[in-house]
Amino acid sequence: MLVIDLGGQYSQLIARRVREARVYSELVPHSVTPEQVRARNPHALILSGGPASVYAEGAPRVDPGLFRLGVPTLGICYGMQLMALELGGRVDRTGQSEFGRTDLRAQESALFRDLPPAQTVWMSHRDSVVAPPQGAEVVAGSDSTPIAAFEEPRLGLYGVQFHPEVVHTPHGQDLLKNFLYDVAKAPPAWTPAAVIHEQVERIRAHVGRERVLCALSGGVDSAVAALLVHRAVGDQLTCVFVDHGLLRKNEAEQVVETFGGHFHVPLVHVQAQQRFLERLDGVDDPEEKRKIVGGEFIRVFEDEARKLGDVRFLVQGTLYSDVIESGGTDNAETIKSHHNVGGLPADMRMHLVEPLRLLFKDEVRRVGEELGLAERMVWRQPFPGPGLAIRIIGAVTPERLETLREADSILQEEIRRAGLYRDLWQSFCVLPAIRSVGVQGDGRTYGYPIVLRAVTSEDAMTADWARLPYDLIEIVASRIVNEIPAVNRVVLDVTSKPPATIEWE
Ligand code: XMP
Repeated sequence: MLVIDLGGQYSQLIARRVREARVYSELVPHSVTPEQVRARNPHALILSGGPASVYAEGAPRVDPGLFRLGVPTLGICYGMQLMALELGGRVDRTGQSEFGRTDLRAQESALFRDLPPAQTVWMSHRDSVVAPPQGAEVVAGSDSTPIAAFEEPRLGLYGVQFHPEVVHTPHGQDLLKNFLYDVAKAPPAWTPAAVIHEQVERIRAHVGRERVLCALSGGVDSAVAALLVHRAVGDQLTCVFVDHGLLRKNEAEQVVETFGGHFHVPLVHVQAQQRFLERLDGVDDPEEKRKIVGGEFIRVFEDEARKLGDVRFLVQGTLYSDVIESGGTDNAETIKSHHNVGGLPADMRMHLVEPLRLLFKDEVRRVGEELGLAERMVWRQPFPGPGLAIRIIGAVTPERLETLREADSILQEEIRRAGLYRDLWQSFCVLPAIRSVGVQGDGRTYGYPIVLRAVTSEDAMTADWARLPYDLIEIVASRIVNEIPAVNRVVLDVTSKPPATIEWE
C-alpha cells in the first residue's frame, strides 16, 4: 500500500494505521509518477490530507495519471478534494468549515459495510466537495458537509472528507479495513513473523559470508536489530557492548545475561567505566558532557572493532520514522545535540545493515516479542545515550552516580509495582548537586535532594507531568531518604514540556 503524502500532519499516522491492519504500507512523496507506482505494484493507494486549499497557489498536486492506473485509491480530506477536482467534480469554499467531532450519516456501501449508519467522525477542513467526481455516488454526509464520502467502484476511486486514521473517529480503523480487505483485496499478511522472515532473507543476501558488528546500548532498537541479524547470519555477528558506567542499576548485567547468556550472541563486554569517569571529571556543562560521552564512545568502539580484524558490516537501528524525517522536511534546529549511543562513527568505512529501516517503533517492539526478547527489554522506556551523566546536575562523581542509581532503582521498582511503568513515557530521578539541610535522629544533615520526574508523552516533542498517586510518591520518597544516607530531601517536578524539557540537562 502506498500513502501519497500531500503534506498533512497525519500522513505518517495513516501509514501506521494501515500497518496495524497488517498491510505493509510506505509513505511516498506526491511527486510520485504513475510509472513509479506501477513498478511497485501496490494493492492500493491512499492520498493523505494536506494543509492547503486545493485552489491555493503552489498547493500540492498529483499526476492525474494515478487515477487511471486501475489501482483502488482512497482520498482522505485534501486527498478527496484533489480527486474530485481532477475527475470532474467541484470543490468550493462553502464558508462552512468543520473542525473536530462531527455527526455523520452513512448508507450501506463498500467503505461503510457493517458500520453503524450514524457515527462520529473527526473533521478538519475549510473547502468542501460540492459535486463528486463523474459517476461517483455520495455515500455519507454531515449537516454542514453533504458530501462527506463518495465511491466510484468502477474506477476504484473512493473519498472521505473526515479522518479515519485518528482515534477521534471511533470506526475509522474499520473503514480502513473495509477499504484494504474488501475493496483493494490486500491480504492482512504483514505480521511480526513475516517481517522476521523477510528481513532474515534480506540480511543474508546483503551480508553474504562477511562478518558483522553491532553496538548494543541496552535499548530496544539495538537489541532487536542485533537479534534479527543474529537470526540471519548467526556467529558472523559480534556485538559490542560498551559499558560507560552511566547506565541504571543492573542494566549492564541484563544486557550481558540476555545476549551472551540467553541468546548466545558473541558478545564483547567492554568495561570502560573508568575511562568515561576520567574524561568527565569536573565537567558540569551539559553539552560538554554529551560531547565527551559521544566522542569517547566512538573511540572505545573503534578500538574494539579494530581488535576484531576485518569486519565490513555495521548494524544500525535506524527506524522508519527516522527515514521519513530525514527525507522529509528540513526539520527544526537541534535544541539539544542528541547523541545516540550506538550511532555510526563518522569515519568508519563500513557498509550499513539496517534491519529496522522499514519499521515503526511499535512494530520493533512486536518483532522483539516474537524473537523472544524479555518484556523488560521490549517495553523499556527511552533512556538517553549519555545516561546518568545528564541526570546529575553538576559534575559527575562516583559517589553521585551511586546515589542517583540507587534512588532511580527505588523509583523504578515502585512504579513497576504500581503497574504504571508502561503508562509513562519516562520516569526517572535527577540529582542536582546541591545540598540542603535536614534533620535525622538527633542530628542535622546536609544532603542531596532527589528530583522525581515522570512524564506522559506520545513522541517526546511535548510531554505532560504525570499525576502519580500521592501514596506512591509517599512510598518512593520515604524509601529514598531512608535507604540512601546521602539524600535528605525528595521533590517532584510538576512542569510540562514546553516550557521545561523532559530531561534536566
Ligand atoms: P528533552 O529533554 O529534550 O528529551 O525533552 C526528549 C527525549 O530525548 C531524550 N534525550 C536524549 N536521548 N541522547 C539521547 O539519546 C541525549 O543526549 C538525549 N537528551 C535527551 C530524552 O530522554 C527524552 O526521551
